[in-house]
Amino acid sequence: MRVCSGWRRFLIFLPLIFVLAHFLSVKELHHNSAVEDLPRNKESNKSKSNHLVLGPAAGQGLSNRLQCHGDGNGIKALNHTTHSSRASAAVDSIAVVTVFTIYNSSTSNGHVEDQISNSVTVGNASYTKFERSMAVLNVFINFIQLAMPRSSVVILTDPAADLSIRRNKVTVYPIQGEYSRDKLMLQRIRSYIAFLESRMEELPQNQKHTHYIFTDSDITVVDDLGHIFSEYPNFHLALTFRNNKAQPLNSGFIAVRGTDDGILRAKIFLQKVLKVYQTRYMKASRMLGDQLALAWVVMSHPSFDAKKFTKAKAFVDDIGGASMLFLPCAVYNWTPPEGAGQFHGMPLDVKVVHFKGSRKRLMLESWNFYSSVSNIPDMLCLILKSGRTKYDF
Ligand SMILES: *[C@@H]1O[C@H](CO)[C@@H](O)[C@H](O)[C@H]1NC(C)=O
Ligand SMILES: *[C@@H]1O[C@H](CO)[C@@H](O)[C@H](O)[C@H]1NC(C)=O
Ligand SMILES: *[C@@H]1O[C@H](CO)[C@@H](O)[C@H](O)[C@H]1NC(C)=O
Ligand SMILES: *[C@@H]1O[C@H](CO)[C@@H](O)[C@H](O)[C@H]1NC(C)=O
Repeated sequence: MRVCSGWRRFLIFLPLIFVLAHFLSVKELHHNSAVEDLPRNKESNKSKSNHLVLGPAAGQGLSNRLQCHGDGNGIKALNHTTHSSRASAAVDSIAVVTVFTIYNSSTSNGHVEDQISNSVTVGNASYTKFERSMAVLNVFINFIQLAMPRSSVVILTDPAADLSIRRNKVTVYPIQGEYSRDKLMLQRIRSYIAFLESRMEELPQNQKHTHYIFTDSDITVVDDLGHIFSEYPNFHLALTFRNNKAQPLNSGFIAVRGTDDGILRAKIFLQKVLKVYQTRYMKASRMLGDQLALAWVVMSHPSFDAKKFTKAKAFVDDIGGASMLFLPCAVYNWTPPEGAGQFHGMPLDVKVVHFKGSRKRLMLESWNFYSSVSNIPDMLCLILKSGRTKYDF
């Protein structure tokens, strides 16, 4: 186990800042992630787990949901998930863009004990706070490169961040800004806008475009996403929605067509969202302001019909001159359920899994599991069975 002393590692991880309230002492850490099965029908409990915990797989018996069997490491999917056709996406390239910033500051008052008690073990590896955030970012990249081998990854970051990442087809793009914790979501929109502005200056003259998909970095892409640009050939930008009155739109997935028009309209839209955020939602929770602003801009459009959010089916609408594609979160931003309700399993055509909140451990465990079985549907069963568990990070 690596011990780092004399300085404090400080990190900020988008979209969620880790809440480190329930750290377990190193003695309690298991060296290998044991797999434990919860009895069926038992509510998952409130304490956070430092190892994989499996419960029942929701949605069993539903014909359009992933069916799973087996337990522990023998967990298996009974269905193949439905893959989008890759051929259609071959013309244009895709870049997945995320904001990620991490600090490894050497200002002292960091204690050896903090470093030890804050380190966690996943599989055979032990991570400090700093290292596990980097591990999450690496798993994010691993899945993109697996599901979309021709795509690239762009990481927008604070020029002051200690982010050194050397991987094929991954570019780190520093953007000046205010990256303090309470300004992060605001900064994220600003970074998206700055990035789009830089793309406008560099638009290629030839026919080939690069489309952009802005995502949180705690997601895994499990299928090709390029198909949305050909399947829905006219949209400028795409957002993900869910049937939730207070927060119908999630800011964790924004796709932008890489044409002059697409980039320009996406930029104008995000500038509106930024303005609404600053004038209406600065007092909102620092995690929610951007989603509230996003919803305000869309819903305040006079012809918009919010009833469309009640059905998990993609639709296109005109919002202030931009053609906007609305994609269901159930497929493009599937999140394991927070509470007991409204959870009907995993759609067979799921493309993006979002490891919100205390589920980053599950994201790393999923990559380890995938590495040993080389089968995405089996791994999705692991996530489905484990998604209700709250983990230590
Ligand atoms: C709650 O979950 C933790 C972590 O999985 C487990 O160790 C503990 O035994 C559980 N407690 C109860 C009462 O089920
Ligand atoms: C998924 O697998 C189950 C069990 O084999 C089967 O009954 C069901 O028809 C399959 N669903 C689809 C859509 O193929
Ligand atoms: C963090 O900073 C320390 C001290 O400056 C250095 O020894 C260490 O290698 C850095 N770690 C990373 C991952 O950059
Ligand atoms: C983890 O450790 C176990 C036993 O120590 C070993 O069998 C296994 O191959 C290791 N796995 C990896 C991924 O290194």
